Amino acid sequence: MNGRYCLARLVTIILLGLDCMGPCPGAGPAETTLQDAFKADFLIGAALNPSQFSEQNKMQAALVKAQFNSISPENILKWSSIHPAPGRFNFGPADRYVEFGEANRMVIVGHTLVWHQQTPKWVFEGANGQPATRDELLARMKEHIFTVVGRYRGRIKAWDVVNEAVEADGSLRASPWLKIIGDDFLEKAFQFAQEADPAAELIYNDYSLENPAKRAGALRLIKSLQAAGVKISGVGLQSHHRLDKPSAEQVEATITDFAKLGVKVMITELDVDVLPSPQKSLSAEVSQNFQAEDRLNPYTAGLPDALQAKLAARYAKLFGIYLRHRDAITRVTFWNVTDADSWLNSFPVRGRTNYPLLFDRQGQPKPAFAAVLQVAALAKSADGEK
Ligand code: GLA
Repeated sequence: MNGRYCLARLVTIILLGLDCMGPCPGAGPAETTLQDAFKADFLIGAALNPSQFSEQNKMQAALVKAQFNSISPENILKWSSIHPAPGRFNFGPADRYVEFGEANRMVIVGHTLVWHQQTPKWVFEGANGQPATRDELLARMKEHIFTVVGRYRGRIKAWDVVNEAVEADGSLRASPWLKIIGDDFLEKAFQFAQEADPAAELIYNDYSLENPAKRAGALRLIKSLQAAGVKISGVGLQSHHRLDKPSAEQVEATITDFAKLGVKVMITELDVDVLPSPQKSLSAEVSQNFQAEDRLNPYTAGLPDALQAKLAARYAKLFGIYLRHRDAITRVTFWNVTDADSWLNSFPVRGRTNYPLLFDRQGQPKPAFAAVLQVAALAKSADGEK
């Protein structure tokens, strides 16, 4: 074990209040992989960009194959990428993505069908540039879902059907989908997805569901879909976290609250932002953009050890929670693979050097990686003792 792993292990042990100061069972976490460590618990996924799934970036493709057994597409299945103009579909990248997942026997996720972002303007326009009518937009939604879900039927196992439809206060977001179609746009999206692939898992995906008001809105939404007899298989907790927010208690209560509805819980976009935040409250609303300032980008030369340890401790705590709820949680997906590729280098401020993932810019495991494996090893040995 090198110094970094020792540090991560110590942090994990202290944090979880574990009594394990001698040689721990399963010590040497660097020798195992994420997917193996959690094999009996949940899938471990990563969101990929084209250089990874096309294997143009060989180092990263190898890392993905070794560590992950599920993949999500970071951008290529979003409406603006796959369906940029009426009647024009750009299936090439999505075909490569699905082929990569199949060749490596991974569980392939589709993201996302109905969203207010990365959706071209024409989708919401009728003839003469007027807003589309309800019927026009419903027909477009149906065509999009039937074409995209239908093409990968039986191959893409789970779809984020609707992304981010709830506001911070729990109300439905006043997106063009809601304004033009009305409240039942979610029902329709899920129904079309079910018709297009009856066997697929259908997910409602959102950020900041740890915030009680927003969570209450999403819980209401899922209950209303269930009451209407719509198939909804799971909730996706995006989990774009910070070092100190949301609290462990909020994370845990969120998982428990959704699990009570009988839906699967998936952690769909996990990362931990370590940089100073210009935001008043934690939000992954992608339209936000703040002015770059040096004080908001303090670690361009590397992450100080103390923060590296905090990141490891945060990840250890999160995975401790996930393991306690492994009956409800079916997948934990990271939003990309290495720090170099994370969207958090450009959100909510462009051009920063962030460190939100388990692998550094060279693809090397960070102390947080060892800490996560250590949590799995300790949980396994605790299970063995029962
Ligand atoms: C949201 C979306 C993702 C992605 C991230 C930022 O969380 O669900 O598709 O756009 O923002 O990369």
